Amino acid sequence: MSDIHSERILILDFGSQYTQLIARRVREAKVYCEIFPYNAGLEKVKAFKPKGLILSGGPSSVYDAGAPVIDKAHLELGVPVLGICYGMQLLTHVLGGQVAKSTKREFGRADLNIHKNEGLFAGIGESGKATVWMSHGDRIEQMPECFSAIAHTGNSPTAAMADEKRKFYGVQFHPEVVHTPQGVEILRNFVYTICGCKPSWTMASFVDYSVGEIRKAVGNKQAVCGLSGGVDSSVAAVLVHKAIGKQLTCIFVNNGVLRKDEAEKVQHSFKDMGLNLKYVDASQEFLSRLTGVEDPEKKRKIIGNTFIEVFEREAQAVGGAEFLVQGTLYPDVIESVSFKGPSAIIKSHHNVGGLPEKMKLKLVEPLRELFKDEVRAIGREMQMPDDIIDRQPFPGPGLAIRILGEVTEGRLRILREADAIVIEEIKKAGLYKQIWQSFAVLLPIKTVGVMGDERTYENVVAIRAVTSQDGMTADWARIPYDLLGTMSNRIINEVKGVNRVCFDISSKPPSTIEWE
Ligand code: XMP
Repeated sequence: MSDIHSERILILDFGSQYTQLIARRVREAKVYCEIFPYNAGLEKVKAFKPKGLILSGGPSSVYDAGAPVIDKAHLELGVPVLGICYGMQLLTHVLGGQVAKSTKREFGRADLNIHKNEGLFAGIGESGKATVWMSHGDRIEQMPECFSAIAHTGNSPTAAMADEKRKFYGVQFHPEVVHTPQGVEILRNFVYTICGCKPSWTMASFVDYSVGEIRKAVGNKQAVCGLSGGVDSSVAAVLVHKAIGKQLTCIFVNNGVLRKDEAEKVQHSFKDMGLNLKYVDASQEFLSRLTGVEDPEKKRKIIGNTFIEVFEREAQAVGGAEFLVQGTLYPDVIESVSFKGPSAIIKSHHNVGGLPEKMKLKLVEPLRELFKDEVRAIGREMQMPDDIIDRQPFPGPGLAIRILGEVTEGRLRILREADAIVIEEIKKAGLYKQIWQSFAVLLPIKTVGVMGDERTYENVVAIRAVTSQDGMTADWARIPYDLLGTMSNRIINEVKGVNRVCFDISSKPPSTIEWE
């Protein structure tokens, strides 16, 4: 175990939608942590050598048939335990207390009355009060032996409890969400004061550690990386380049469905950073295979398969590569209980699965332990340009799934121009970083318009802009009317072939972010 990993917390997941958030908060406190499913065996948990355990929330009630339970032995490791919401109820249940259905569900903001500003609540709610976020139906009716209440709300006489001797704590509210303003402090109290962890998980130390690990793994062999220009593959490439320099060749494939000037921009950025970049313009190969194809999933398959073919061919041309660098993130590898991580969904769209097996390459995944915000922080640590770090996500099948119907050169030209205007205006308005994705979509219909004295019969462009945390759910971004007006005017005036612009006001679910 390296220094940066030695002070660590283990989070046992009982299926809460907030489990990843707990992990991110602990990591923001510079303490390394991982998430295991609640039923991870005792041996696995012991081998992890946690300095503290956090039991996440979850959708169940402890009395439900088949509710996830914890083996009591997990509580006998001699390390502090913090149960959050369901985790607290479970702690109560397993240690002999009583949980009961509350007559009133408590959901949303609540006023927490803190009994003493110490331990878990040191420095919290100096006035004895703090705002917290509740989301529970059950409540603690009787605490297990040796526990005492350390906070209450109007609805929950035991909103938080502690057994200071064993260092077991339970909170009915969610300290990990932003609606609990001092939640981060509470988690810090737990990991620093109660578990005794030191803040050693820093991005600078991660870069040093990772460079060493990559060198050890790759030795003097060659590695290849499929670079898309997106944040994950870019940061992975730069990190590996830092470790093995010219032994890494990045392959950037132009699949013909990139955005305006994207191929040039990506090449410039990476050459500027000194990476060994192989640019492959395979746009004609992709576009000819897309001719006549209208079905979105067929488009995805064609683009995915063609990518594999082209990449394999080009990687072989590099000669002797034994390693493949991929920008896999931690949410892709967490074994989650009931909720698949957001990236699991995004990944199912991913088109390059199977590449390493097929090419018999060993994988190098330097970002496997990281959340997206940590990946960005590492990019900044390595002085990568903001332009790459802050990029909005862009799907692998690119503009092909934003041109509804057949992808042709003519339709690509229209969408590229319209999309460039949307991005330019969003950036100009200072909204680019706040918005998860913003782009243009070309619809498969024509409408009537009038320009000068003439009737026109031309294309419709839709503007899509959404806010989101992870792409799993999303809401349409409330961008100002004036900005929408500017985008619409510019698109209709500057992009030949468009006479109407619409704004998509649907959220996900039930819609999706992309239109195909
Ligand atoms: P949806 O449209 O499903 O998109 O709400 C969720 C997120 O996934 C991206 N997306 C894709 N990414 N290949 C990808 O690499 C795909 O086929 C694909 N389809 C959607 C989308 O841009 C959004 O960020």
